[in-house]
Amino acid sequence: MLESLHKTEQQALSELQHAADTADLKQWRARHLGKKSVLLQTLGRLGSLPAADRPAVGRRANEIRRALEAACQQRSDEVRTAEFDPVPVVALDVTLPGRPVQRGRLHIATKTLRRIYAIWAEMGFQVYRSPDVETDEYNFELLNIPPHHPARDMWDTFHTDTPGVILRTHTSPGQIHAMQEYCPEPIRVILPGMCFRYEQITARSEIQFNQVEGLAVGKNIRFTDLKGTLSDFARRMFGATTCTRFRASHFPFTEPSAEMDIECFLCSGEGCSVCKHTGWLEILGCGMVHPTVLQNGGYDPSEFTGFAFGMGPERITMLKYGIEDIRYFWGNDLRFLEQF
Ligand code: FA5
Repeated sequence: MLESLHKTEQQALSELQHAADTADLKQWRARHLGKKSVLLQTLGRLGSLPAADRPAVGRRANEIRRALEAACQQRSDEVRTAEFDPVPVVALDVTLPGRPVQRGRLHIATKTLRRIYAIWAEMGFQVYRSPDVETDEYNFELLNIPPHHPARDMWDTFHTDTPGVILRTHTSPGQIHAMQEYCPEPIRVILPGMCFRYEQITARSEIQFNQVEGLAVGKNIRFTDLKGTLSDFARRMFGATTCTRFRASHFPFTEPSAEMDIECFLCSGEGCSVCKHTGWLEILGCGMVHPTVLQNGGYDPSEFTGFAFGMGPERITMLKYGIEDIRYFWGNDLRFLEQF
């Protein structure tokens, strides 16, 4: 009997060395320490052995049981360590050149925006942020566009489920926020950000695009200030010899209103397909802040005047780099993005 127990122990210890994972160990334990194992069966049958053999067999069986438990515990620790640390330890050669880290880049729209911010910062304009989600009151009414006014047709609007809450169609509502915050101090800010219009998407028009608004409010600000400042911006943005022209236009929140064109930098005013053979490229809308808008911002229009403008950086980028389709900007095509 003792001989047989010894063989059982040797067999179990040998099998334990081949247990490679937790599942193997579980099976091993059932086989050698479970209820149906030889060892447990022997201990259970002690009473049926001759009285003289019982103490020796019982002692030996319990010794083997403790030995197998300890061996199982040790193997289980080894297996668990191997399972949690499966990466083989390899020598590290610190003299090898490192793997190059792939460098990202700024989106072309962001680059243009940053160039625009820098130019206006040089001219003393700080960035003022206003919300993308607006009320009808700020997007239209306080900008002198009452409900049902036909001028609303210029800005096809995304409405939300909440009555009177819309996605801003232009950055101009930021003018009111800035005026209400700074009044009665003079103001020089630019207001960049996304605008949203429920428009047909075409090569020139997106439903989501950036605008950069500008606003200057103070005493004795005149249309000549507007012309001089915007012409200076054009020269800094497009080159020192850039010519500008102002065409009369209409915006309900400015009076008088204008569009600023720059001389086509591709054909130097000769006429080409980009400028549609006019020699001029439209860059922005502008005008003197309407007295009603000044009043809505808290300023007394008999004392204060101001000018405002709004430009589309994507359209400016298209002109600058000869990009033919605005949809490339938000199409996430790396072949386009990696060119800049
Ligand atoms: C406006 O939105 C006026 N708020 C601008 C303004 C501000 C005038 C302050 C006077 C004083 P307009 O709708 O023209 O104007 O848009 C201004 C610029 O946004 C355009 O010149 C164009 O560059 C850009 N833009 C307009 N619609 C789109 C569009 N669907 N996709 C891309 N760019 C657009």
